[in-house]
Amino acid sequence: MEEQNVAIPMPRIGDKAPSFKAVTTQGEINFPEQYAGNWVILFSHPADFTPVCTSEFMAFATLADEFEKYNCKLVGLSIDGLYSHIAWLRTIKEKIDYKGMKNVEVKFPLIEDISMNVAKKYGMVQPGESTTQAVRAVFVIDPQGMIRTILYYPLSLGRNFDELLRVVIALQTADAFKVATPADWRPGDDVIVPTAGSCGVAQERMESKAADVHCHDWFFCTKKLDKETITKTLTKK
Ligand code: BEZ
Repeated sequence: MEEQNVAIPMPRIGDKAPSFKAVTTQGEINFPEQYAGNWVILFSHPADFTPVCTSEFMAFATLADEFEKYNCKLVGLSIDGLYSHIAWLRTIKEKIDYKGMKNVEVKFPLIEDISMNVAKKYGMVQPGESTTQAVRAVFVIDPQGMIRTILYYPLSLGRNFDELLRVVIALQTADAFKVATPADWRPGDDVIVPTAGSCGVAQERMESKAADVHCHDWFFCTKKLDKETITKTLTKK
């Protein structure tokens, strides 16, 4: 088989984030090594100078300080060249006024990936959707460089950046408090206590009178975790 046809395995949740060096709008980066100790969202978009992508970059850049509070850096990528990236980001800042967002400066790095090296490594090119453009992929990577969440959206569907922030906070909450987060969880909602691993613990849980724990059944117990505690624990001073 010719080298260019060799399939590259897609990274999965729990894998170490594949390493690469790349040129970006903020200089060269060494990924994920230079982000060790930080959370990082690596995300792709199909193309510069396109409307959905423009709306996404404005939304993401506007929320960048919120992500920073949770020690989370942002890194974008598309299969475009550096000068296209620079021109597009300048246009966004100088000309685009959208949904109350204007004069938006994208300060996070945007990778140029004309060679598709990074896009292919991360399974961002999905030929059923496009052979020349990356889909809207999102990789949430933890301070140890492990992939913790992967999301993929098609070309036509803009992402929800409040949801991405929720994902980061939920992952950090799970790590910090050793809990899980139920459907539609938002900080301040009850969290899930790890399922009982023995008959004895199951029995204790059902008989417990602890005020802040509520068991719907032995395998499904929730407890209170207030938003202030989460924010104080997770955010930078
Ligand atoms: C957009 O960002 O608007 C877009 C990009 C590629 C294909 C379709 C839409």
